[in-house]
This record gives sequence, structure tokens and C-alpha cells, in this order.
Amino acid sequence: MTCPVFPPGFDFTDPELYTDRLPLAEFAELRRTAPVWWNEQPHGLAGFGDDGYWVVTRHADVKEVSTRPDVFSANAKGTIIRFGPDMQPENLEGLKHLLINIDPPEHTRLRQIVQRGFTPRAINALKAALTGRAERIVAEAKTKGSGDFVVDVACELPLQAIAELIGVPQEDRGKIFEWSNRMLAYDDPEYVDRPEVGRQASAELLGYAMGLAEERKACPMPDIVTKLVHASEEGSLSSDEFGFFVLVLAVAGNETTRNAITHGMHAFLKNPEQWELYKATRPDTAADEIVRYSTPVMSFQRTATRDTVLGGQEIKAGQRVGMFYGSANFDPDVFADPEAFDITRAPNPHLGFGGGGPHFCLGANLARLEINLMFEAIADAMPDISLLAEPRRLRSSWINGIKEMRVSYDGTAPAG
Ligand code: HEM
Repeated sequence: MTCPVFPPGFDFTDPELYTDRLPLAEFAELRRTAPVWWNEQPHGLAGFGDDGYWVVTRHADVKEVSTRPDVFSANAKGTIIRFGPDMQPENLEGLKHLLINIDPPEHTRLRQIVQRGFTPRAINALKAALTGRAERIVAEAKTKGSGDFVVDVACELPLQAIAELIGVPQEDRGKIFEWSNRMLAYDDPEYVDRPEVGRQASAELLGYAMGLAEERKACPMPDIVTKLVHASEEGSLSSDEFGFFVLVLAVAGNETTRNAITHGMHAFLKNPEQWELYKATRPDTAADEIVRYSTPVMSFQRTATRDTVLGGQEIKAGQRVGMFYGSANFDPDVFADPEAFDITRAPNPHLGFGGGGPHFCLGANLARLEINLMFEAIADAMPDISLLAEPRRLRSSWINGIKEMRVSYDGTAPAG
């Protein structure tokens, strides 16, 4: 197998590589020449004390890693390939309590319990409230004429959806929004010298959620917290387990969906024929194409529990294996014309929600619902929306994030 020629020190976890968009040319080179490639990080850059990790780029191989949890552990070294400069072993220990970092059989037990909140029926029950919410968000943004799409439009629905789902009282939602936003900015220059900002926000959110669980234990309400903390056939969550679950939701369900909505809008504005098509036909296939094309979560890692072989490459026990969804979602072996944004693409077996194993995105149906509701509201109320400036992106090699995107909601240039 030929080795790709990348300059010494080249690192797929370097946020600089993701400043404009996904590094599709580099991924294509790897898929062609070394689909499971050892990326050296000789200085233990990622904080794991090892000297590198495997970069997995082909759709088939990412699926294989996802669906073999006995060989590829989510728990051993967690699921994030590279943390910010504040990464310390004790942080990793704390993160091991999160659903996404737990292996079967413990994961199976927890997942069976929390899944009760995410049945098609439970998600459908949110539809009326979220439809009204999406329409109000868009109507309010429209009154401004122009503004930052991320703040005015994309931010709120994902947070409201989580708050609605777990039954956070209206008066506490501002706090939840603030903690969630602060927790996620670990890789950003505005926070990079102040890692305590994110840690403190997580601790506050955790404390709040544990308190909510205690309250519902004492005084049941018709909401999901009550359902999860009270015993049933599948078991129940302790207050601590519930707290960690809310932390996962705040990270997993918030920034991801917000970015899918912003990237989706950007893709529509860059592909006006797709926006015309969307407005005319509103195809069900649009949400999945938005997730494939934008890949809001660009990677997760696993750790080999024993020596194994992946895509013809030998992997040693204890080595980390990075699944690059941003590459798998553009694999020409699976997707015709992968770089085209095509909202009618079907089938669309993208891995934007994961590769189908035990950790497959719990909120995938909720995310699809939110994306659909948001674009329906935008198409109805602001069909002429236009881009005023190229987006400003989050500095991260994990979340494909947009921090700011100036748009005109009615398609006219702002005065002055
Ligand atoms: C897991 C992506 C929205 C909750 C995941 C994973 C990915 C992902 C890639 C890991 C899959 C794996 O390791 O195999 C996304 C994207 C979203 C989104 C792209 C939006 C477009 C949501 C929402 C929620 C949510 C709205 C809930 C409110 C979760 C949870 C997990 C997860 C709880 C962990 C599941 C487990 O470990 O068993 N998501 N997600 N996600 N997601 Fe999402």
C-alpha cells in the first residue's frame, strides 16, 4: 500500500485543516492510497500519552468499527480524538460516565432506559410545540431585516427541543442555554485560555439536572425525567445517571443540530436551484442530505481491545482508531457524485448520525424533525433569504461548526 504524501507533522486533528470546509481532497487521497492510515502525534498532542492514532476514511471501515463494540471500545480512551489544551487524564475519567463513552453491557442497560424518551411516539408528541416554536423563531428574525442566522434562527430550536423533551421549566431555560453554549466552546480562541469556563458550565448543568431528577422522584410530573427516574421494566436512572444523560444531550443534541441547520441554509444559498426545488417540493429526503453534506460531527474514536485487522491493516490492542464521518460521507464507492448537494438523494446511507452500532445517534429522528420544521418555516416566511457574508467557522476538528452567518432575511441588502 502506498503511503500518502503529507508533510511531516500533518495531523487530521489540527483545527486549521477545517477552517474553510472539510478536507475532502486529503480524505480522497487516503481512501485511495491508505484507507486506514497511521497519523503520528509524536508529542502526545491529543493528551492521551500515545504517539498517534489510525485515520479510518472509507465508509465500509467506519461502519465496521462502529458495529464491533467488543473489538473497538468507546470507553477505554473515550470517543474524542483530540481535546483542547486543557485535556488532562482526570477529565477523561469524568467523561467515562457519559452514555457515548460507555461500552456494552452497561451501555445496553442505560440505552434501553433512555430510549423510552425517544420513541417515534415521544418525538411526534413534540411536533406541535416545535412547529409553533420554529414559526415564531423565523417570524421574529424576519422583523430584523438582516442579521446573524446562527443567533437569530439556528440556535434556539435545538435547545428548546431538548428542554421540551426533558421537561425543563420555562423559567430555567435561559440558564440551560447559557451552560450548553459555554460547554461547547473548548476549542475556540475566545475561550481557549480559559478552560475553566467550559468545566464550570458542565458542573453547573450537571448539578441542575441531578436536582431536577431529585425533584421528579419526590414529585412525579407527566414528563420524561419522571419516566426515566422512576422504576419500570427496563429499570430506572439514578439521579447521577440522569445528570450525565442531560450533559450528553446538551452536547450531542444542541450544537450538532444548530450546525446542520446553518450548514443546510448555507448549502441552499450556494445551490439556488436546490433551494427552488426545496420550496416547490419539500422532499422528505432533504434532512438526511443536509446531515450528509454538512457532517456536523466530523469524527469519533474507539480503542482496539485486542489485536485485529481493519481494511487489510493490522491494528494493535490499545491503539486508537478515528472514524472520519466527513470522509465516509463523501466515499464515491457509496455515493454517486458525492460532492453535489442533492436534496433528492435516495437511498442516502450516510454516517452523519454514526455507523449504525450501539451508539447510533439516539436523537436522529428528533434532529430530522427539527431540520424539517426549520426549513419549512424558512421556506414559508423568508423564501428570498440571501447570504451577506461568508460564514465564520468554529475552530474545531471535531464539530463542523459555524459561529456566525450574516444573511438578509428578505433578500434585500441592509441599508448603509
Ligand atoms: C450519538 C450525530 C442530533 C443525542 C451521536 C453520534 C453521532 C451523532 C455521530 C455517535 C454515533 C456513534 O458513535 O456511532 C448527530 C448529528 C445530529 C445529532 C449530526 C444533528 C444533526 C442529536 C439530537 C440528540 C442527540 C437532537 C438528542 C436530543 C445523541 C445521543 C448520542 C448521540 C444521546 C449517544 C448515543 C449512545 O451513545 O448510545 N450523534 N446527533 N443527537 N446523539 Fe446525536
